[in-house]
Amino acid sequence: MRHLIDITDLSVDEIAELIRTSNDIIANRKAYSEVCRGRKLATLFFEPSTRTRLSFEAAMLELGGGVLGFSSADSSSATKGESVIDTVRTVACYSDIIAMRHPKEGAPLLASLKSPVPVINAGDGGHSHPTQTLTDLLTIQREKGRLDNMTVALCGDLKFGRTVHSLIAAMSFYENIKFILISPDELKIPDYIREDMKRKRNIEWRETDKLEEGLAEADILYMTRVQRERFFNEADYMRLKDSFILDTDKMRYAKPDTIIMHPLPRVNEISVKVDDDPRACYFKQVENGKFIRMALIMSLLEVSK
Ligand code: NCD
Repeated sequence: MRHLIDITDLSVDEIAELIRTSNDIIANRKAYSEVCRGRKLATLFFEPSTRTRLSFEAAMLELGGGVLGFSSADSSSATKGESVIDTVRTVACYSDIIAMRHPKEGAPLLASLKSPVPVINAGDGGHSHPTQTLTDLLTIQREKGRLDNMTVALCGDLKFGRTVHSLIAAMSFYENIKFILISPDELKIPDYIREDMKRKRNIEWRETDKLEEGLAEADILYMTRVQRERFFNEADYMRLKDSFILDTDKMRYAKPDTIIMHPLPRVNEISVKVDDDPRACYFKQVENGKFIRMALIMSLLEVSK
């Protein structure tokens, strides 16, 4: 039995296979509508979510399966003091696969050690978010036609942004990747990720605090929200929250084929006027997220069409 806790749990070939299945699902939706008949997905969300939870549920429903779960810690026995392990052992009696989001880093890993059914990490604190990365990789492959030979600018909260951490780890699998890391000083990537990049020979990277500079070179600009819920004090958040705002003026620095990505939710960091620019891909990411989660659920449940 397999879990998906970190994006590095998957090999490059397995990622390619998930992308291939997603593209097949997109082209032949009907062929997949019964493959999970009789199976159930449980979504255990101890932290807020719109896209991740609902796309997991929509994915299972489109595969013909059923869904159950909770969408906040308040509505679960966590408020009575139940441990994550006991919750998972309980929910595994009612379901065949579990997607879990938790504010504590490592909670889904801990759950997977005792779970009799596959556990998917749907975001753990400021650490990682592997299924968002699968969504991002499918989007990049569909929009750019490749995952290698790319300059990727990542902008915003690189310290607490778990989607950024997982995307850097995944893109590091491919040849000739260059990262431009754009953030205020206080929100730079964690040291463990910097050390990881240093060890990889195929990765070139630099850090800057100027969005325009990164944008001019980027094939992909990946914008992120400043993660208010991870700050220790509100004053720091208020000072940093609008560090970077991508508007139509700044878009003039981007190349004609640069794609703009964002895991969403957005706050102020991308002006809504940018949504009409054909280079804006963040709503395509939302759509792709459901398809790659369908492919992932099938793979972990070992079902095929
Ligand atoms: C992200 C997350 O939860 O980490 N959202 C998502 O899953 N699409 C990004 C964020 O909350 O900023």
